[in-house]
Amino acid sequence: MSIRPILIHPDPRLKKLCDPVSAISPELGKLAEDMLETMYDAPGIGLAAPQVAVMKRVLVMDCIKDPETAPRPMVLFNPVITWSSEARSTYEEGCLSIPEQYADVERPAEVRVRWTGLDGREVEEEFNGLWATCVQHEIDHLDGKLFIDYLKPLRRQMITRRMEKLKRERARE
Ligand code: NI
Repeated sequence: MSIRPILIHPDPRLKKLCDPVSAISPELGKLAEDMLETMYDAPGIGLAAPQVAVMKRVLVMDCIKDPETAPRPMVLFNPVITWSSEARSTYEEGCLSIPEQYADVERPAEVRVRWTGLDGREVEEEFNGLWATCVQHEIDHLDGKLFIDYLKPLRRQMITRRMEKLKRERARE
């Protein structure tokens, strides 16, 4: 396993529609392992393939934050939301591609998602709470959408300018 560099917004690769995965190859298994390691190392609760510059519909997540609870690493290939609740909930979201910037985003409180697992089998599961927010945030990444796209333009521009500055600083290091 290896930790892969995470792309920082703004980056054209974070704005692209990702391609579906066809068969679950050993390379995709390696990608998923690397993404989990990269996510835990960051640390974060979710990571989508375009964030590590792979333009494929793959995401990983683990929303277990309690150190007393066993981790639940999840790998989702070609995830699709098959149902969303009318009820909505608001979470303060962040993103590993937009470090240290947080904002409230309202989304459906519960979603049902269908995906292909690491073993190639189809799975369908309902998510609520933080898991529901996280899976929607990560699926958005596969469609080139970031959580700041839900914010008012002024706020989004302010965050983008901060990220441009951060990237310039990092480039000088
Ligand atoms: Ni994100």
